[in-house]
Amino acid sequence: MCGIVGYLGTQNAYDILIKGLHRLEYRGYDSAGVALVDNNGQLNVYKTKGKVSNLEDYCKDKNINGTVGIAHTRWATHGEPSDKNAHPHYSQSKNIALIHNGIIENYLSLKTFLSSKGYVFKSDTDTEVLVQLIEYMMNEHDLPLYEAVYQALTQVTGAYAIGVIEKNNPNELITARIASPLIIGVGKDEFFLGSDASPIVEYTKDVIYPEDRQVIRIVRGKEIEIRSLDNKSLIKPEVKQIQLSLEDIEKGGFEHFMLKEIFEQPKSLSLCMNGRLQREQKEIILSGIQNYGERFAKARRILISACGTSWHAGLIGKYLFETLCRIPVDVEVASEFRYRNPVIYPDDVLIAISQSGETADTLAAMELAKKQGAFIYGICNVVGSSVARLTDSGTYTHAGPEIGVASTKAFTTQVCILAMTALAVAKQMETISTEDYKRIVTELCNIEEKIETILSKTEEVKEISKIFTYARNFLYLGRGFNYPVAMEGALKLKEISYIHAEGYPAAEMKHGPIALIDEEMPIVVVAPRYQMYNKILSNVVEVKSRKGKILAIVTEGDTDIKRLADYVIEIPQTEECLSPLLTVIPLQLLSYYIAIAKGRDVDQQRNLAKSVTVE
Ligand code: F6R
Repeated sequence: MCGIVGYLGTQNAYDILIKGLHRLEYRGYDSAGVALVDNNGQLNVYKTKGKVSNLEDYCKDKNINGTVGIAHTRWATHGEPSDKNAHPHYSQSKNIALIHNGIIENYLSLKTFLSSKGYVFKSDTDTEVLVQLIEYMMNEHDLPLYEAVYQALTQVTGAYAIGVIEKNNPNELITARIASPLIIGVGKDEFFLGSDASPIVEYTKDVIYPEDRQVIRIVRGKEIEIRSLDNKSLIKPEVKQIQLSLEDIEKGGFEHFMLKEIFEQPKSLSLCMNGRLQREQKEIILSGIQNYGERFAKARRILISACGTSWHAGLIGKYLFETLCRIPVDVEVASEFRYRNPVIYPDDVLIAISQSGETADTLAAMELAKKQGAFIYGICNVVGSSVARLTDSGTYTHAGPEIGVASTKAFTTQVCILAMTALAVAKQMETISTEDYKRIVTELCNIEEKIETILSKTEEVKEISKIFTYARNFLYLGRGFNYPVAMEGALKLKEISYIHAEGYPAAEMKHGPIALIDEEMPIVVVAPRYQMYNKILSNVVEVKSRKGKILAIVTEGDTDIKRLADYVIEIPQTEECLSPLLTVIPLQLLSYYIAIAKGRDVDQQRNLAKSVTVE
């Protein structure tokens, strides 16, 4: 959801900024721009609609000199994708340029005020209001840039991470944040800004994570200056080391990040379970549960709130906690939960699930539950993100950076954490027998190997996918633990191939969707062999009688569904409660190869952005 980059140092800023934009392009890619102050005191802004590569073409014959600059890749909120709405935005005099990720909520009243003072707006964005307000503060109150930014931000409500530079001040770069991600890289005589660490990691591992409501002044040759927006007090910068490596953020020989991330799942699950799953002893040790297990044990109810794929993981969480711990669970889409005045008890536990840790609706749901006294447990991938900061306790998924816009390894690691958490709580509450506990934990120990087995069938899935590229609609069916997997499979397909797909509980099909079935309609049935097997077998017969084309995901050695289905992908046997970790893999591959066959841009689908930081 918009990526920002900045640089102040000794090198030519342009190359660093463009490389940074490419790394952040997963956040939004409808337009891009760069601003540089050159050695002659010129502030040049170049911006274009389209991807970062368009910007590079546009800049080919331009003056791209300068050792200080800011750059932006956009996911449009206010104002359609266009050259004029792309960032950076100039102030009226063209003396200041600004980039922004987030949303200025009171932009209309500020715009009215500034218009009355003679400021003319060239874009439809909320962001332009902020750069004009900074110029107004400078002119009206005779303030230097840093003071003007500070004063302007006291007038603004909303969410932001910004970068600001000034024509007459090539030695200064100002930044600030509220509720949007921002990292500052500290090198030798140089500083970097990024929405995440990916534009920075190549140059330095030393970083500062600014807190909300901090305004930061970076001056060439001086110490970084951080002040609180609330009382201007000086805050000592705390330099931390990033764990990320360059390899983590590159495609590593794969054609797309999505494919790389699908194949990374055995490794990401290993990292996720590392130190938590004691393979020898067949034990699960989660510090969050060691310290706060009582809170779960005493919970009147567990609420799970999330969006998109993370919500699907949450739906599996319901099955896990209800089956293993016998605690009632409600799973809520965060955007609905936050606005419907839900009943929340102080003895509820709210589990928030988010890959990015920045999803605005999930954060709002957490804040709401926190206000009403619930205990907030976070499951999140990005270390230090807003979700992580808002929790009372929680567990990182440690999936590594997920760059493909379609979530894959985030989903399996989230389900893995939910399974480990439910097992740990069940053991503490004694709602699971020792025998069942050990058996499921033993299966967790084998899960990476079983995923490898499924991945070795990629060519098989690829062949099947070719058959289905004609389809305009898909139905995905599943039951029990695999009903949310059906929904996840459908989401993956629609978001990357633009084919309409719906995920349904298999028996619910008879209450409507069955009307859609004809010989053209592919039905993906997630049907591993568990207690509901016979029921889903009947559903498959119902589809077959209406001539639907069936692709079934079945347990190795299945013969019954095999006889009925047109195509079959086998997965290894595992415990039912862990089966989503396996059944989802062929569905991820299927959607990937269908999208490839249709010529879609798998990593950067139309209209989507990786983290949804606006509601
Ligand atoms: C789908 C997808 C989205 C995200 C959703 C929540 O592939 O990636 O549906 O799952 O936007 O994002 P996080 O998990 O970052 O809160």
